[in-house]
Amino acid sequence: MIISNGVKKIRKAVIPVAGLGTRFLPATKVQPKEMLTVVDKPIIQYIVEEAVQSGIEEIIFVTSANKRAIEDHFDRNFELEYRLRQKGKKTELAEMLKISDMAKFIYVRQKTPKGLGHAVLTARELIGDEPFVVIAGDDIIDSRVPAIKQLMRVYEKYEDIVLGVTKVNKKETYKYGIIDSLKIDERTAEIKKLIEKPTPSKAPSNLAVTGRYILTPEIFDFLAKQKPGAGGEIQLTDAIARYIKERVGYACLYEGDYYDCGNKLEFMKAIINFGLKRSAFKKELKKYLRQIVN
Ligand code: G1P
Repeated sequence: MIISNGVKKIRKAVIPVAGLGTRFLPATKVQPKEMLTVVDKPIIQYIVEEAVQSGIEEIIFVTSANKRAIEDHFDRNFELEYRLRQKGKKTELAEMLKISDMAKFIYVRQKTPKGLGHAVLTARELIGDEPFVVIAGDDIIDSRVPAIKQLMRVYEKYEDIVLGVTKVNKKETYKYGIIDSLKIDERTAEIKKLIEKPTPSKAPSNLAVTGRYILTPEIFDFLAKQKPGAGGEIQLTDAIARYIKERVGYACLYEGDYYDCGNKLEFMKAIINFGLKRSAFKKELKKYLRQIVN
């Protein structure tokens, strides 16, 4: 399918959720880390909503054992619907029905934990020959315009790989894929180099890739030949770095606040941020925070 100016519409998103979530044990002993709750919604629902609000129609989850709760969350639950109907809880019922209607959900298993690049490669047949989005299952971006939508606008202009980046503290570059780039305008740059988790002294900038990628189907050829990198895993970053060397890639410095919910402190900040946005809690929560920090 193409959109008006001849650019292929991006319809599919791959969300890798196969990780064990060991950083969050014991909370993740029996439940996926992506199901941890920010106020009253699981992390993964914020991410799916961002994708859907950006125009994504098909969500491909790359899962593993113990991730059934994610499948159940995005499916119908007839017993719950029946009980809500019986109790006249119309708002809750409508909200539940909306979740499973948001998009078409597809699940594929990553049989061995070989890294993010390998997880994306697992979805190859399901993507086929079209550009697609990859979203990390635990990175929430709070923004006025959905972050993926902001990346799509860059894609529509250049029709090649676009990575969502944000500025991080220089001391923390070792946690991220970091780019070296040539500025095009305030929010767009051409990527010259991409390095996975460099130490601050080796980092070419403080612009970090934060779980939002628009990729072309050609990336699969690079992923298929990718040798293991950092941590002995097949890194998505390494395959993108090789792709960019041969072709081209862009960065979108999106407008919005990034919460790495795979990190305990950032996860707590996300809960406070989204709590303060709810009119029902805003006043009391502010009052409480003031009270306890003094
Ligand atoms: C992954 C990517 C890294 C990226 C980060 C945050 O690392 O490999 O390039 O910056 O996600 O989205 P992970 O956090 O899985 O170790």
